[in-house]
Amino acid sequence: MTSIAVVEGDGIGQEVIPIAQNVLALLHPEYEFYPVEIGYGKWRKTREACTADDIALLRDADAILFGAVTTPPAADYRSVVLHIRKELDLYANLRPVQGNGVDIMIVRENTEGLYSGIEWQEKDRACTLRLITRKGSERIARAACRIARERRNHLTIGNKANVIKSDVFFRDICIQTAEEEGIPYTTAFIDALTLDVLMHPERYDVIVTTNIFGDILSDAAAYLVGGLGMLPSANIGDGHALFEPVHGSAPDIAGQGIANPVAAVRSAAMLVSHLGDTSGAARIEEAIRLTAEAGIITRDNGGTATTAEAGAAIIAALTRLLD
Ligand code: IPM
Ligand code: MN
Repeated sequence: MTSIAVVEGDGIGQEVIPIAQNVLALLHPEYEFYPVEIGYGKWRKTREACTADDIALLRDADAILFGAVTTPPAADYRSVVLHIRKELDLYANLRPVQGNGVDIMIVRENTEGLYSGIEWQEKDRACTLRLITRKGSERIARAACRIARERRNHLTIGNKANVIKSDVFFRDICIQTAEEEGIPYTTAFIDALTLDVLMHPERYDVIVTTNIFGDILSDAAAYLVGGLGMLPSANIGDGHALFEPVHGSAPDIAGQGIANPVAAVRSAAMLVSHLGDTSGAARIEEAIRLTAEAGIITRDNGGTATTAEAGAAIIAALTRLLD
C-alpha cells in the first residue's frame, strides 16, 4: 500500500491541493490518502501549528503532498515548513524551471546555511549563523551530480565565494564532488548567475547552491516560465519526500478561486515520478500542456479561467490521456 499524507495548509493551499490530490487519485487509485491538519488555521485554534504527532503522521507516509502555510504574526512562531524539512531531514530541494523552451533544475540545499535556525537578537543587534557543513554540502552536491547525469550532464555551482568564507567551503566541496562523479561543472557568483539565468537560460542544466541563494534564484527564475503559479518542488531526504508548489499561501488572492493550480499539479507529477511512475508524471505534464494549449489559463498568466476550471480541464485532459 502506498500512503500519501496530504497537508492543504492555509490560503490557496486549500484551493490547489485538492486538485493535485484528484490528479494523484486518478492516476493511482491504489494510493491511500490521509489529511494532516497543519498551519496557521490550526495555530489560531490550538496555538500550535504543527505538533509532534503531526510530524509522526508525516513520517509514516510514503510521500507528502503539501500546500502552503501562512506565517502567523507571532514572535515565537517557527516556520512550519522549515521545521518539517529539518525534522524529516529533507536536504535536497529540487526546483525544476520548465516551459517556454527553458529546462533548468535548481538544486537547493534545504537544511542549513542561513536557515540554520542558530540565531538570536540582542538589544542593538541580531545575529544569524550561516552554517555550512561538509556533510550537508557533500550530500547536496552528490544529489545534484546524480540529477545532472540523468539530464544534460552539466552542473553550475552557484556561490558567493568572492566574499563569504562559508561559500568558499561550499563551492570547493561541490567542485571536488563533481570531479569525483565525473560531471562537467562551472562555478558562478550567485548575483551575476541570477541575471545570466534570466538572460540566457539555455546555458543552464543543473544549478546547485546554498539554501537562501536557491530560495531567491528559484523565485527569480519563475519569471522565465510564467511566474510562481507554475513552479513545483520536491523536498527529498534519504527516508522521506515532500512535494509542494514553490508559491506560498498567497493570502492576497486566497478564497477568490483564481489561484493557478499548475504548480501544485506539477508537484503531484514529481511525487509520482519519485515513487517510480515516470510515465504518469509525463502524462500529467502533457495534460497541463494540453490545457494551456486549449486556452484554459488562470489570470496570473493572462487568461480568465478560475482555479476550478483550470483544475477540471487538467483532470479531463488526463482522463483522455489514460483512455
Ligand atoms: C520556499 C519558501 C520558504 C523558504 C518559506 C515559506 C520558509 O519561501 O519554499 O521557497 O524560504 O524556503
Ligand atoms: Mn521561497
